[in-house]
Amino acid sequence: MSLPPLASYPALRLRRLRQAAWIRDLVRETVVSPADLIWPIVVHEGAEDRQPVASMPGVARLSVAEAARAAVRARALGIPAIAVFPHIDGERKDAVGSHASHPDGLVMRTVRAMKDAAPEVGIMCDVALDPFTDHGHDGLMEHGRILNDATIERLVEQGLAQAAAGADILAPSDMMDGRVGALRGALEADGRQDVMIMAYAAKYASAFYGPYRDAIGSAKALVGDKKTYQMDPGNTDEALREVALDIAEGADMVMVKPGLPYLDIVRRIVEAYAMPTFAFQVSGEYAMIMAAAQNGWLEEDRAILESLTAFKRAGCAGVISYFAPRAAELLGA
Ligand code: PBG
Repeated sequence: MSLPPLASYPALRLRRLRQAAWIRDLVRETVVSPADLIWPIVVHEGAEDRQPVASMPGVARLSVAEAARAAVRARALGIPAIAVFPHIDGERKDAVGSHASHPDGLVMRTVRAMKDAAPEVGIMCDVALDPFTDHGHDGLMEHGRILNDATIERLVEQGLAQAAAGADILAPSDMMDGRVGALRGALEADGRQDVMIMAYAAKYASAFYGPYRDAIGSAKALVGDKKTYQMDPGNTDEALREVALDIAEGADMVMVKPGLPYLDIVRRIVEAYAMPTFAFQVSGEYAMIMAAAQNGWLEEDRAILESLTAFKRAGCAGVISYFAPRAAELLGA
């Protein structure tokens, strides 16, 4: 971008355009709206409507019935879509995540209940095995190694089951090579060409997922780390290769994760590919803001809106954020 020649001070006083709210409103470059948000929810198998998640103040695991009410709430707040994550009871987990593709599994029941309650709200499902495996990894394991191609076969079964239940967007979050193409091919073959894919294209092996693993109950289970499939935080050119592959394989939208610490990656991707690019403000980012707010160290509402504005300013089409309902309330007020 080339800048026009600037007048020099005092002809140019940049503070002129900051002097009152009305003129700041007029010249603002980036505005967040509820329509920019995807609301991640965690569901559990029990009847209890809300089970608070200790490391995520204000977030609770929801029953299926409560998830349906969340969909109604999202519609009322103008939030376009909800992303569903399951907390699976220990006795249903096994080494290959068998339960992930069960047609009446928790995620499928939740999707159906939400679609009954508020069909206008888009439903996104995570395609990954970690909530369902007893070792907490996103893939199948053999002698301590994560198997790529065998995992993809399971992911395809899982994704097709989610699509059959009514999921609008499949979001593979596992970081296996080739899974977007496999999912796209399977959806076509199954007559589900309208199902969208949002690829967790550049997903980093991050410390910021800690509270999420608490929320879905995989923290205690996880053996080792995810560094052989999730990306190294030091890399950025590699993110462009990951995104290029996922686009070539048929992704409709791409995502960067975590969010705020990776906005440089978002920016590069937006500039390189001009594809709808999303970022996930993950559980640890949520926990940081909430912990500081609860200590009186920062103003919660302002911090929430400022963080969401940063995503949009970086070029995100939208943001997956646990703040979605709170932010939509603030923005609608
Ligand atoms: C797992 C998955 C993770 C998240 C979404 N899907 C965690 C992980 O990779 O261990 C993180 C969400 C969050 O931290 O809010 N496939």
